Amino acid sequence: MAQQPTIQGKQIPKATDTQDWARSDRYHNSFLIPEDPVLDAALKNSATNGLPEIAVSTAQGKYLYLQARSIQAKRILEVGTLGGYSTIWLGRSLPADGEIITLEINSKHAKVAEENLSNAGLSSRCKVVVGPGHESMTKLPSENKFDLIFIDADKPSNLKYFIEAKRLIKKGGVIIVDNVVRFGRVADPEQTDANIEGVRSLLNALKGDQDVDATTIATVGEKGYDGFIYAIRN
Ligand SMILES: C[S@@+](CC[C@H](N)C(=O)[O-])C[C@H]1O[C@@H](n2cnc3c(N)ncnc32)[C@H](O)[C@@H]1O
Repeated sequence: MAQQPTIQGKQIPKATDTQDWARSDRYHNSFLIPEDPVLDAALKNSATNGLPEIAVSTAQGKYLYLQARSIQAKRILEVGTLGGYSTIWLGRSLPADGEIITLEINSKHAKVAEENLSNAGLSSRCKVVVGPGHESMTKLPSENKFDLIFIDADKPSNLKYFIEAKRLIKKGGVIIVDNVVRFGRVADPEQTDANIEGVRSLLNALKGDQDVDATTIATVGEKGYDGFIYAIRN
């Protein structure tokens, strides 16, 4: 094996790539996240039905679950269901009388999610609502507020979702928005695609927004280099 280059006896860190990040996720998960046939079956059923492989990673799913547990969430809203992988993680954090409502525009995705949620034994706590996410959000009453809202649908609509989320979240509740780093491209002025602009519109609106306190948590792993906006409603 080639000798590792060193400076003053210390190994020089080498540049890493997506394969290293995936290996790192597998390594950490092997200590912290047991094998999970139900989640594996959800991913397999989603792939068999031709759904895109764009669910949160295993480590991110566990992070969402832990966040929901840490605030003892009883009511959760999700925008962007896909095959319900993140919904299962969030749904598992709920007490028996808790509820997650998840919004999905694509009826095929919603059907697969319902199958996966049923297989996970979570149907009684998880309601999949089919339709455009923003329209579905506007129909939800302000009186019955949520403890946690996870936004993970079409990125150009991020700001619209966030504005509705502020109406629907409890004081002290948590709003999490996925895919806000995008391999660092959101910060690269040469990049102007609609998904990136969707994140920038949200960031611009958050600047000086007294309604929330927020930060970006960059994540790197099997799904690449990305991140969440994590906001608490004041
Ligand atoms: C990134 S995937 C969600 C992944 C899922 N949260 C997970 O981690 O398992 C985004 C989903 O949002 C849905 N979507 C796209 N536009 C939407 C809209 N306008 N309203 C609701 N859902 C939408 C897509 O069909 C897709 O299923």
